[in-house]
Amino acid sequence: MPPTFKNLIGGDWFAPSTGRYLENRNPADTSDLIGRFPDSGSPDVERAVKAAAKAFERWRLVPAPARGDLLKRLGDLLAANKESLADSMTREMGKVLAETRGDVQEGIDTAYYAASEGRRLFGHTVPSELRAKWAMSWRRPIGVCGLITPFNFPLAIPTWKMFPALACGNTVVLKPSEDVPHTSHRLVELALEAGFPPGVINLVHGRGEVAGKALVEHPEVRVLSFTGSTETGSAIGEIAGRSHKRLSLEMGGKNALIVLDDADLDLALDGVLWGAFGTTGQRCTATSRLLLHRKIHDKFVTRLADRAGQLKLGDGRRAGVEVGPLIHEAARDKVERYVEIGKKAGAKLISGGKRPRGASAAKGWFFEPTIFAGVKAGDRLEQEEIFGPVLSVVRIESLDEAIRVNNGVRYGLSSSLYTRDVQAAFRAMQDLDNGITYINAPTIGAEAHLPFGGVKQTGNGHREGGWQVYEFYSETKVGYVDYSGRLQKAQIDNYVRLET
Ligand code: UN1
Repeated sequence: MPPTFKNLIGGDWFAPSTGRYLENRNPADTSDLIGRFPDSGSPDVERAVKAAAKAFERWRLVPAPARGDLLKRLGDLLAANKESLADSMTREMGKVLAETRGDVQEGIDTAYYAASEGRRLFGHTVPSELRAKWAMSWRRPIGVCGLITPFNFPLAIPTWKMFPALACGNTVVLKPSEDVPHTSHRLVELALEAGFPPGVINLVHGRGEVAGKALVEHPEVRVLSFTGSTETGSAIGEIAGRSHKRLSLEMGGKNALIVLDDADLDLALDGVLWGAFGTTGQRCTATSRLLLHRKIHDKFVTRLADRAGQLKLGDGRRAGVEVGPLIHEAARDKVERYVEIGKKAGAKLISGGKRPRGASAAKGWFFEPTIFAGVKAGDRLEQEEIFGPVLSVVRIESLDEAIRVNNGVRYGLSSSLYTRDVQAAFRAMQDLDNGITYINAPTIGAEAHLPFGGVKQTGNGHREGGWQVYEFYSETKVGYVDYSGRLQKAQIDNYVRLET
């Protein structure tokens, strides 16, 4: 019998009020049932938010360095369990072990950064315009944070949200993707072991339309952070707007990698393969457009098709496998729809385009790394996020054209330029309309201590990671202390400045 899991609320484990469960299966072998996880209803969310609100009363008063110490301990536990976390993450999500190890490492990095931020959380002390008066600002926690996370980084993305929220003194309710509940379960188990007090971290499993929606709508949830599709982000944004909640959105991408004619083509080739087919293309930062300068276009396309055809598909827990399955059937159906859309539009399929053959491939949601050449700027293949192993190649005449094509989509997460020309590199960093630009590296590879996010329909102006996320999870408060012993009027009594 596969295990049945519960929600973590107020430090205790509870079965869902609905009595219903969702199955979690291995996408590389759908006969492998990992467990049954709560299909929670709004009463479960209500209970979790209440527990988080109660815990907030005390947690907000724990000194930030002490909160940081707990995060340090949790980081240590993640490090001690790295291998087994990576293994169970690959089992439930599909990407290869090297990548799930990287996912855990990103969580560890985020924990240690958050731990050290507990000793900073800087405010400002500035001179007052009046004598014998102090003026300063500092950060206060906000309250209960509702965190809604996707399947593609089952550990890293929950930590991007949870750890800074906790370091700032907030309490959290996490609703992870119903496709990867097990990794979140393990994360909160380790958090309990690290010693976080009951109710500071709560976990409610379930579907977005039910549990996620209840969390977004709950009046006592004051901060929301969501990573997922632009469509769901818009729906959350409407609710958050009406209720004046603080909201961070991290959404779609259609990231371009540009190769100019002076580039190191071997380096670019490795970058494209990793950017496009790592995580089976299921990253918001995936390289989904390749803009090739006409002078190197044909040669590069030939080499690329050859290399893509050699990528080893399979169960990400097996040695030598380079590309795992898609997350579920609907994801593969979507990829297949786009392959048809590409063919109909007249693009040239130069690699992949179908399900792999063989008995072991038939057990999971596999799809071959797929490349279309001859894609035109403006085609659906070039404009829409597919979230799968599909790369569209567009021929460009110049850097100017590449910048125009890069910027001609509704998303703006990451971009990349391969060149040896330092002027072209800096020009691109200035003009590519994205949150992140890589030079001589693919569109993926963000580090936990720098701000992460995008422009246009990718986000709503906030960033995850780095120093900036601590501003999102805290409220600025200002204090003035007048020790002059008399009434001093700002803006009015300023003439006294010149008196000795
Ligand atoms: C995502 O693409 O969904 O930059 C997140 C990267 C990772 C995070 C990606 N560190 O590829």
